[in-house]
Amino acid sequence: MIGRSMFLAAPTRRVPWWRRQHWHTGARNRHDDVPTTVSIVYGSFTPHGTARRNAHEIHHVLSSQLSASPSYIVAAPLDGTSFDFNSLAADDARSQQQKRLLIIATSSMFGQPPDAFIPFAHNLLLTATTNPGCLTHLQHAVWGAGDPKWWTTYMNVPRYTDQLLETCGSRRLVARGEAHEPYLDAKEGITVEAWAERLCHALIVRSTKDEDEDDDADPVGIPWDALWQTYPTTTHQQVTGFTLRELFQTQGCLAQGPSALAKPEDDYQYLVDRFTEPEEEDETEDAGKGGTTVPASSRRSSSSSSSVLAASRSRVRRRLQK
Ligand SMILES: Cc1cc2nc3c(=O)[nH]c(=O)nc-3n(C[C@H](O)[C@H](O)[C@H](O)COP(=O)(O)O)c2cc1C
Repeated sequence: MIGRSMFLAAPTRRVPWWRRQHWHTGARNRHDDVPTTVSIVYGSFTPHGTARRNAHEIHHVLSSQLSASPSYIVAAPLDGTSFDFNSLAADDARSQQQKRLLIIATSSMFGQPPDAFIPFAHNLLLTATTNPGCLTHLQHAVWGAGDPKWWTTYMNVPRYTDQLLETCGSRRLVARGEAHEPYLDAKEGITVEAWAERLCHALIVRSTKDEDEDDDADPVGIPWDALWQTYPTTTHQQVTGFTLRELFQTQGCLAQGPSALAKPEDDYQYLVDRFTEPEEEDETEDAGKGGTTVPASSRRSSSSSSSVLAASRSRVRRRLQK
């Protein structure tokens, strides 16, 4: 794992770091054979679309700086509904070599995930609580948008998401960035572009490590609160989290059922039963591949539903029987 000191020095902007790297000269690094897939997932709910914009800014920095490298595939940002959570599973045949990087940019709404982030948050929370440690092939980085005006739940979703990814076994590539919070040596905080550049820098440091250097040599890695290691926050470091019940209450069940990474048990089945009582015969509503949830508020009146809910319920049952 990369030492913390790597992040204290910001990469120079005069000469893009990738021009100085050996992949530019055609040399191979240990990641050449299996490119790192970079996914960017966002959750955003206000008309400003701050976190969505942030996700696109991160994508812009990464794709422009990594375009010279064959070692990275940077996918376009997706919201937490469109993203296929199952795609995070390790490919068994290549799991020893496989590298995945997941970047999250999200805000919080009264401490809860933005609507379009709920399917991702639901799958992540369920996976963290039922199958911890299943994402050890994953590295991640979280960027948070928030406002201390909502003091108690300030930055709750980015912070909790970062914790849950760690519980799943993923390791931080860089310290979480939070808009307006101190960041390592930057007392006044850093912009999302500057954070994305540090992320690129961390990627290149990782990719140029010697063959015999072992990523597992540092099992602790970058701690959750690393962003405040030099300057303390002027707000707080609290996390209130959110629960599966709250997510069910807001959006109901995952229309696609839980991801294959999770190992749900009876308590989950209880929530599914509790929140999927089919009341009426309705038309069928399309379901997103990433695990679109069925809004609880519209469950009884909207057209979606009994068939989708019944399908969801049976998918959960099948998963529970495995
Ligand atoms: C109704 C409402 C609730 C909010 N709740 C929180 C909150 O719990 N925690 C927080 O840090 N910010 C909260 N905020 C602030 C937003 O997260 C912040 O403005 C963010 O930049 C919005 O990003 P978005 O446009 O991507 O949704 C809230 C804002 C609104 C309007």
